[in-house]
Amino acid sequence: MVTNRTFTMIKPDGVANGHIGAILAKINEAGFRIVALQMQQLSLHEAGLFYAVHQERSFYGELVEYMTSGPIVAAILEKDNAVEDFRTLIGATDPTKAAEGTIRRLYAESIAANAIHGSDSDENAASEGAFFFGAKQQF
Ligand code: RTP
Ligand code: MG
Repeated sequence: MVTNRTFTMIKPDGVANGHIGAILAKINEAGFRIVALQMQQLSLHEAGLFYAVHQERSFYGELVEYMTSGPIVAAILEKDNAVEDFRTLIGATDPTKAAEGTIRRLYAESIAANAIHGSDSDENAASEGAFFFGAKQQF
């Protein structure tokens, strides 16, 4: 399945450090159209479900706790080749390894508090987008 949409979240550190505007500007400048947008604070239950794929990893508890530590900004983005191009725009998970000019290189604090999420497949983009947004909230 190939779609032209991906899902993103500006994580609690990105919001707390005042980077919402700068990150959304980078996203627009890179040619993505914002088709859904909302700010909210995840519950432990919601964050646990969202990252359930990492349940067995050593950092899961820390990740879920961190993702509930403050509000996030969730969005669905549209562009040709959205998933792959967005992963390129955000850069590597570890900001010290992220390429120059990427969102994580510019705005992330650490591998755990790394400013932004990007879906890793078209299938996950669709399910993650549906986790946050109903059909009437997508434009
Ligand atoms: P994301 O899903 O948030 O876009 O990040 P990603 O694909 O680049 O990385 P992934 O392997 O899916 O890991 C999900 C998130 O878990 C946190 N993490 N912490 N302490 C650690 O070693 C560690 N490793 C990963 C990060 O917040 C990562 O983005
Ligand atoms: Mg991931």
